[in-house]
Amino acid sequence: MRTKHFENPFPATTYLGPGYFCDREEESSRLISNIQNGISTTLIALRRIGKTGLIHHVFTQLPREWKGIYVDILETENLNQFLNLLASAIIQAMPEKSSPGKQFWNLLRSLRPLISYDALTGAPTASFEISPKETEHNIYAILQFLEQQENKIVVAIDEFQQIASYPEKNTDAWLRTRIQQLKNVVFVFSGSQQHIMSDLFSSPQRPFFRSTQIMKLDKLNREVYCQFIVSMFNKYKKNVSNEIAGQMIDWANIHTFYVQLLCNRVFATTTREVTMASWKQQAHQLLREQEPVFFIMRNMLTRPQWQLLKAIAQEGIVLQPTGKTFLNRYHLGTSATVLRSLKTLLSYELIIKEFDANGASFYCVNDVFLQRWAELSH
Ligand SMILES: Nc1ncnc2c1ncn2[C@@H]1O[C@H](COP(=O)(O)OP(=O)(O)OP(=O)(O)O)[C@@H](O)[C@H]1O
Ligand SMILES: [Mg+2]
Repeated sequence: MRTKHFENPFPATTYLGPGYFCDREEESSRLISNIQNGISTTLIALRRIGKTGLIHHVFTQLPREWKGIYVDILETENLNQFLNLLASAIIQAMPEKSSPGKQFWNLLRSLRPLISYDALTGAPTASFEISPKETEHNIYAILQFLEQQENKIVVAIDEFQQIASYPEKNTDAWLRTRIQQLKNVVFVFSGSQQHIMSDLFSSPQRPFFRSTQIMKLDKLNREVYCQFIVSMFNKYKKNVSNEIAGQMIDWANIHTFYVQLLCNRVFATTTREVTMASWKQQAHQLLREQEPVFFIMRNMLTRPQWQLLKAIAQEGIVLQPTGKTFLNRYHLGTSATVLRSLKTLLSYELIIKEFDANGASFYCVNDVFLQRWAELSH
């Protein structure tokens, strides 16, 4: 297969193909091995690290007898919308002319959804207007259909934490029972770490993820990412030195989405050679564009909350936010005040709690651009 040549090799919101994807070899092999061995995986990571990208990447490498179906349920609010997306993902993954496609269309017709076609892409979508009981029945029928296919099927459900907010009771328990009965279909559940982790620990009676292998996606290796960026620029006859690529990666905290976005801008505005001044100008520009949103966030916070966020931004990571050294260095007042502010910042997800390789916890600003902006602001 010829890889398509894109104008900018640094996507920040889509997956362009294996030629534009850096590393993740170990993670891909592990995921493929799980799939082949019938083990469902729960993929967790910080926001914007590359979960969705990894799923698409793995789908391009599935062994022949496997078929991948990808469903992003972020925008669903109930089980009925889940059914609509699942059915639509399957009709899009199985061409109507293929034999499983024909069978699926037959099944669908018997369930009587409304079929419409996306005005832009022409992709078919299904929607059902039915009672909750019928919804469960239809999901069950669709899962059974997948189970009976000759191909082995992997269904990736992205933003899975969303099902916890459906109004129907026990959706996850019901879905888990259904899913665990399947032998021919393997699942990848992917979602933001914060929500899935808290669900895991706060509700032991809902051990959805215990029946899957949990895989945490970390940041990319800095050196490998550096070489990747250098080689991408070279491919398009542009130049960036290893050192400058490293500076860009560090500015973006090796956080994939932010690195990609910065590289995308720098690539677009470079004709030949990236200089320290030129990448910094682009980084500055990116912060300027986000500024209106950051102003709103800052106004939303009390002074102690903002002072704490700014202090964490300046430190990068903070192990002990109530430690004396930290409190004194940034004049943050008492540890009780800081604890209160921290709680609010965590609940807004402006600050997140993370764990290093040794299991020690630390705090950092969730959004890298907000961190860079806050550390410079007054
Ligand atoms: N290994 C990689 N090499 C190059 N680009 C990558 C890599 N991983 C992810 N990306 C790109 O970075 C961007 C952000 O990644 P992605 O959307 O996969 O993150 P995510 O963890 O799913 O984010 P979210 O939490 O918002 O769902 C995408 O354009 C994606 O294609
Ligand atoms: Mg995603």
